[in-house]
Amino acid sequence: MKRLGVNIDHVATLRNARGEFHPDPFIAAKFVKKQGADSITIHLREDRRHIKDLDAKKICSIKNLLVNLEISIKNEIVKNALKIKPDFICIVPENRKEITTEGGLNLRKNQRKIKSIIRLFRNKKIRTSLFINPSLNDILISKNLGADCIEIHTGRFATLVKSKKKIKKEFLRIKKCSILASKIGLEVHAGHGLDFRSTKFLSKINEIKEFNIGHFIIGESIFHGFNKVIKKFKRIIK
Ligand code: PXP
Repeated sequence: MKRLGVNIDHVATLRNARGEFHPDPFIAAKFVKKQGADSITIHLREDRRHIKDLDAKKICSIKNLLVNLEISIKNEIVKNALKIKPDFICIVPENRKEITTEGGLNLRKNQRKIKSIIRLFRNKKIRTSLFINPSLNDILISKNLGADCIEIHTGRFATLVKSKKKIKKEFLRIKKCSILASKIGLEVHAGHGLDFRSTKFLSKINEIKEFNIGHFIIGESIFHGFNKVIKKFKRIIK
């Protein structure tokens, strides 16, 4: 059974546009769970452009809600994440000027740091995943670093699907990576830029156990509501 993680960062983006309290990501987290999300994802960015520390704290205090907290490797963020105590951690690259996470982690450059961060969370019994490009080498490095899971950056694939270009090569790359990761004991997740069509393609890959989807769900819910959109995604990944 594949799981759906709903990223609610952009509920906070909308709230912050007014500088007030509505819509509240805390209420959104409880609401999307009720509509069938298996977990929720939030990204505590270094610039706090959407989710703030207090949001993360409050959301992680909700009973029976699995929270996946995305963080960079910056010391200040890691320290806060240890205090926030989410159920899961996903380590992502962060670049101040980017609009969204543009690619996977540079594992080679940051091996020692990432390994020590994984150990910190493992000691707290928190599952750690690494957001990586679909690269066989990065999968082997992820295993060596002690990660529990990898999340494959699906941005390139999602863009090919949206622009109706040939997807076979990128699909096979993701499939090969998923098979290798699963074989060496890493749970496989996928996310970034996904919509109904790209998720439908990727749900054919048995090894992918979790999808984390944000922007499209929030945008589509403006027209159809969380209930219908989440239920449709759940049907697609079943
Ligand atoms: N997974 C990870 C690790 C991400 O960083 C993001 C974007 O914050 C997502 C999934 C969701 O991407 P999108 O908002 O494009 O669906």
